[in-house]
Amino acid sequence: MKEQRGAFTSSFGTMMAVVGSAVGLGNIWRFPYLAGVNGGAAFLLLYLFLILLVGLPLILSEFVIGRATHRGAVGSFKQLAPRSRWYLVGYMGVVAGFCILGFYSVIAGWSVRFLYDSVINANAGQSYDEIAASFNAFKNTGWQPILLSAGFLGLTAFVVFKGVEKGVERWNKILMPLLIGILVVLCVNSFTLDGFGAGMSFLFSPDFSKITANTVLDALGQVFFTLSLGMGVMITYSSYVVKPENMLRSKGIVTLIDTSIAIISGIAIFPAVFTFGISPTQGPDLIFLTLPNVFGQMAGGQYVGILFFLLITIAALTSMVSIFEMMTNYMMEELKMTRRRAVLWLLGTLCLVAALCAQSQVEGSRLMIGRYNIFDFLDMLSSNYLMTIGGLLIVVFAGWHISEKRLRKVFTTNGAYNNRIFPVFRFVIRYVSPVAVAIIFLSKIGLIRG
Ligand code: PFF
Ligand code: NA
Repeated sequence: MKEQRGAFTSSFGTMMAVVGSAVGLGNIWRFPYLAGVNGGAAFLLLYLFLILLVGLPLILSEFVIGRATHRGAVGSFKQLAPRSRWYLVGYMGVVAGFCILGFYSVIAGWSVRFLYDSVINANAGQSYDEIAASFNAFKNTGWQPILLSAGFLGLTAFVVFKGVEKGVERWNKILMPLLIGILVVLCVNSFTLDGFGAGMSFLFSPDFSKITANTVLDALGQVFFTLSLGMGVMITYSSYVVKPENMLRSKGIVTLIDTSIAIISGIAIFPAVFTFGISPTQGPDLIFLTLPNVFGQMAGGQYVGILFFLLITIAALTSMVSIFEMMTNYMMEELKMTRRRAVLWLLGTLCLVAALCAQSQVEGSRLMIGRYNIFDFLDMLSSNYLMTIGGLLIVVFAGWHISEKRLRKVFTTNGAYNNRIFPVFRFVIRYVSPVAVAIIFLSKIGLIRG
């Protein structure tokens, strides 16, 4: 028997769910470290430019597809392009979901571990090297990271099991305002630090000499990751929206919130980093090693640490829920499973993938694919290949396959909104975004890496 298809019940709930998917480790962990290694403000400007050129048009394209069909990542393509291979784009999204959830849940598990450390105030007065050593010891146990990521996946599965309205929408409606509240507190605290000026000028006065070909590519990739694009998650969420809405406006707001949260994370992080004379160019360790070190030295740092790692934990959960829901929806609609069965299957297989990821990080582990350990391999495969190719195909599908009439009808909600902007939108998704996305993709496979 087919279960009823879920739907979001309010525009606020829809907004929070979409924002919950977008706002994640990408904003709080990835954006600040990328900005840190790419010259701060110069990176920020490029990123903003690319958000407008690629990010907003692509999130709108995914919304048009989902709203036109009210089906998920695979079903949408089957309906809009029957007797063709376009549905493979949806399958690619499902595969990408496995890869991303595998390593993302491990990182989410780390944030729980640092949250616990903050609660027991374990890092007070410790040096950077001591913190790094204890983090490595934690990773090398193998079972501790596995247990935490499995627990995190379990919580994700629980939310998704509750359904679109009582699970996804309800949890996002509570957690996202909480997240924004925590961020505001952290940001205000940042104003009181000695390094506030130095941190701000790093983030806001651009040094254009730092922009290289690689900076551009990093910024483009970040745009994809941060808005959850290219894998059908936004198609699935948009298929749950049943009320008419001004699509350009609501997706514009989502994009604005996601971007603001990345910038505010920068404001919460860089002044602290400068106050304690730590280099902002650490890379991926910026959050997980540098910040515990900073909090260990800061007055009231224990509480700042608790709030900060709680923030990351919430952000990660709502993003994981969106991927998990996309995959559950696929299994329900295409494989005709019940929600319960789909969720249990996914939970089981994903725990296995996550365990492999965590285990591959243990020193001397032989869980390698080529020269990558499994963790890095899945990260690379999903963000370098699956998301970029998927994004390119989706934007080409919306721009070139869907008829102008149909595209206009959905984009303008039957002529109610943004009629004049429609031709601009169509031009951008036909010509501008595909070219830009093609550049990212070619660069990622190393053809034009400069
Ligand atoms: N947008 C999320 C972030 O910024 O952390 C990550 C993400 C979520 C990527 C969902 C892809 C996805 F389908
Ligand atoms: Na994001």
